[in-house]
Amino acid sequence: MAGPPHLLTLADLTVPQIKRLLTHSAYLKSTATPWLAPHGSLSFKRANALRLPSQSLFNKSVALLFSKRSTRTRVAAETGAVLLGGRALFLGREDIQLGVNESPRDTARVIGGMCQGIFARVGDHSEVEELAKYSPVPVVNALSSLWHPTQTLADLLTLHEHAALFGAAEPAESESALAEERKSRSAPKDLLPPLRPLTVAYVGDSANVLHDMLVTFPRLGHKLRVATPGGLGGKYAAPTAVWDRVVELECDKNDGIWWGADPKEAVKGADVVITDTWISMGQEAEAEERKAAFQGFQVTEELCREGGANPEWQFMHCLPRKKNEVDDEVFYGPRSLVFPEADNRKWTIMSVFDTVIGKWDLDGDRWTK
Ligand code: CP
Ligand code: NVA
Repeated sequence: MAGPPHLLTLADLTVPQIKRLLTHSAYLKSTATPWLAPHGSLSFKRANALRLPSQSLFNKSVALLFSKRSTRTRVAAETGAVLLGGRALFLGREDIQLGVNESPRDTARVIGGMCQGIFARVGDHSEVEELAKYSPVPVVNALSSLWHPTQTLADLLTLHEHAALFGAAEPAESESALAEERKSRSAPKDLLPPLRPLTVAYVGDSANVLHDMLVTFPRLGHKLRVATPGGLGGKYAAPTAVWDRVVELECDKNDGIWWGADPKEAVKGADVVITDTWISMGQEAEAEERKAAFQGFQVTEELCREGGANPEWQFMHCLPRKKNEVDDEVFYGPRSLVFPEADNRKWTIMSVFDTVIGKWDLDGDRWTK
């Protein structure tokens, strides 16, 4: 059998694999929360018939190797693992030998000998690559300096769930896409409402959260409009390691990505406006310099009105949030999807755990194809 199917960035997945994870997230959510499905709908009936999500983690443990703080990702992983019949073992930076007395290589081998998966939140992306290289079990990136794949999955699930806010999707999907979905054993199609192609503006720092959007949204038909201080050639733009993947996947083709330095220009025609902190974990020493560089990048009603966003624009943020990047009016206002987005971290991480960790020994060849 091939080695374990690690998930370090969505750039490594095909479009059908991404769709499968999303539809499976919706399915898991409906089995665990049948009260959320519209009463009498097919989803409701199916959810009530099948109350338990997959138990693929039964008698299994997932190590949460977190060297940085986390609320959502940690709680989603711990509670999600329980629903899948297993357990998550939180191993913080102060708890284990990694980084002080033991190398990532030896740590990966030892933990992989006792646990069936590793969910790792690291500093430099090379650390999670090193774990994956030596781990005998699947390694999933829970956030690194470059990527945050499980966040983008939650963002996409949230957008699909709120598809009605954006108007009707084209009904005709290609036959091959439909056939691909039918092949998916566990996720009935009606659970993931179709979403029309969106214009998504990202105003802020080019960091891990944006990077997984860059390699995913254009492949799913959505256009990205990004503004960072200094624009594409500037200090706060995507690093080469990320842009190389964007180009490899042709996400920059066909106007898939527009990139400038002016936030107002970025939000032009935007159906969704997204931002993230200006000071990611590990960048605290640059706080003052960053706050100065990002002046004018705060997401406000005024910015989006003057920039010509779609009047019905919606707001998203991975959280945790500071007022620097978005004011209270937007963050707590009727356009804000931030808390449903946070809730969806659970179902999407469960979907990844079930597919990549719980079932890979049964289903690994199919998944990695
Ligand atoms: N969005 C996100 O990853 O949140 P946490 O850092 O709290 O896990
Ligand atoms: N870019 C942020 C995301 C936090 C979820 C960080 O890395 O701190």
